[in-house]
Amino acid sequence: MCKDAIVFFNKPQGIELEAGKTYRFCTCGRSEDGLFCDDSHEGTSCEPKEFTVDKTKAYQLCRCKSSDNLPFCSGNHSYYADSDVGKKIKF
Ligand code: FES
Repeated sequence: MCKDAIVFFNKPQGIELEAGKTYRFCTCGRSEDGLFCDDSHEGTSCEPKEFTVDKTKAYQLCRCKSSDNLPFCSGNHSYYADSDVGKKIKF
């Protein structure tokens, strides 16, 4: 997690990812789609997290930016209400 991150959304997003491809996960919550880095983190202490997957299939990616298992959802989005979207992460 990044201490400067903001909650992009309080639900994960299911998306199909391709085996072996390198992705840059957005940890700051400021990117356009809330999933992949578009360099909107500039000026924060956040950096994208590069990752790959072993299997091509749908994954639930974290959009609250508070997962214990980034980039994947760990259920921590349940700590956030709709009113927390766009605000700093709590932990
Ligand atoms: S835009 Fe969020 S980490 Fe780069």
